[in-house]
Amino acid sequence: MTQYKYLLEEDQMPTHWYNILPDMKTPPPPYRHPVTLDLMAPGDLAPVFPQPLIEQEMSPERWIEIPDEVRDVLKMWRPSPLYRAVRWEKALDTPARIYYKWEGVSPPGSHKPNTAVAQAYYGKQEGLEGFATETGAGQWGSALAFATQFFNMKCKVFMVTISFHQKPYRRVMMETWGSDVVPSPSSETNAGRSILEVDPETTGSLGIAISEAIEYAVTHDGWKYSLGSVVNFVMLHQTVVGLEARQQMEMAGDYPDILVGCVGGGSNFAGLFLPFVKDKLDGSKPDMRVINVESTACPSLTRGLYAYDWGDTAKTGPVAKMHTVGHDFIPAPVHAGGLRYHGMAPIICSLMDDGFVEAAAYNQLEIMAAAHSFARAEGHIVAPETAHALKATYDEAIACRESGESKVILFNCSGHGHFDLAAYDAYHRDELVDYELSEKALQEALAKLPEVPPLKE
Ligand SMILES: Cc1ncc(COP(=O)(O)O)c(C=O)c1O
Repeated sequence: MTQYKYLLEEDQMPTHWYNILPDMKTPPPPYRHPVTLDLMAPGDLAPVFPQPLIEQEMSPERWIEIPDEVRDVLKMWRPSPLYRAVRWEKALDTPARIYYKWEGVSPPGSHKPNTAVAQAYYGKQEGLEGFATETGAGQWGSALAFATQFFNMKCKVFMVTISFHQKPYRRVMMETWGSDVVPSPSSETNAGRSILEVDPETTGSLGIAISEAIEYAVTHDGWKYSLGSVVNFVMLHQTVVGLEARQQMEMAGDYPDILVGCVGGGSNFAGLFLPFVKDKLDGSKPDMRVINVESTACPSLTRGLYAYDWGDTAKTGPVAKMHTVGHDFIPAPVHAGGLRYHGMAPIICSLMDDGFVEAAAYNQLEIMAAAHSFARAEGHIVAPETAHALKATYDEAIACRESGESKVILFNCSGHGHFDLAAYDAYHRDELVDYELSEKALQEALAKLPEVPPLKE
């Protein structure tokens, strides 16, 4: 009998997050201070993030316990299902066995609440009144809006202007959960005002929205900043995805040859692959491939530099060594707003530099074609970000058809696209365009990276 999905019981939800840092060949180098560019002390991060998260960011512990209060909220939708894409395999006429972890079952509709709930919990523990944050497509903002209300905290969201207009229902969702949402750049912060002075028509960027959120947090008593991707503690919280998937793949009697996921800042995919890539680091699965899929509009892994850069446009956040297309780069207004971040999780960058993971980039039209192929076979209408993972999976499945190999492909289906139907509509009307980032624009943005002094012995 065909089995379509693999489900875990509530008590099989992971009790600990997996921290990859002690297992990495080259752990990411430490952050630098945004002004002095010297080594950043943990105290420098204290005005920005709650203390337990700063400790997790640098923790040498391999396993970190998930507080019961966090697990209780996560249990509203976790463990999430793992599907075998039986109908899509048939439609593609491929001998590949395709599995996907479906994170669209959370109330906000993506993987993002996995860390939002944890961050809200630690924020409350510290006695905070509220969190300020940025959001691109609105998935992260809605996740934090959802999470903060469980812990009686306020939430202020700076939403990238282009997405604010493209996705009004995401704003309504955040407001329903009690958050205050403004388009970014806004006139509420110095960072926002200075950008608007130069370009009042700007579509905004995640880098600018991050600057505004950090400024808001550090200038309001009892507020801190919450980040939905990129940093180590977010990758850590997302490992519930991969830890569940490992159990579910075992139930299916398979192990992935290829892991696929879309990457904006890297959190959904790292969440899935870190608990598997551990087997590649220790040499037990040397041939497993891990494909990070980004947008050609913001190709940090495939065309950016692996160098120190500011995490935000106004240069107020930590300076991290990461693949970057430049902190003040404003990507083309693709519908996959969550893939418009200029940098990438330092953990992923270091794993790529050491040759453990690889990257690919796709354009808007081809990812939407893959999303349609998937929707018609499997039913789920995915977010445009997620569609990037579908396109890479599609290509690998077709390669299997041509070679006759029956590889096992597992991808992270990071979120549904129910608030992204404008992208689908534009595709149906032939109004969607591809964007190719010019070499000139890229080089101009890369010329502004900081010159970071070597560490003093
Ligand atoms: C559904 C979905 N997938 C993926 C991403 C990309 O973020 P990350 O790379 O941190 O998973 C986003 C970001 O907003 C998203 O909403």
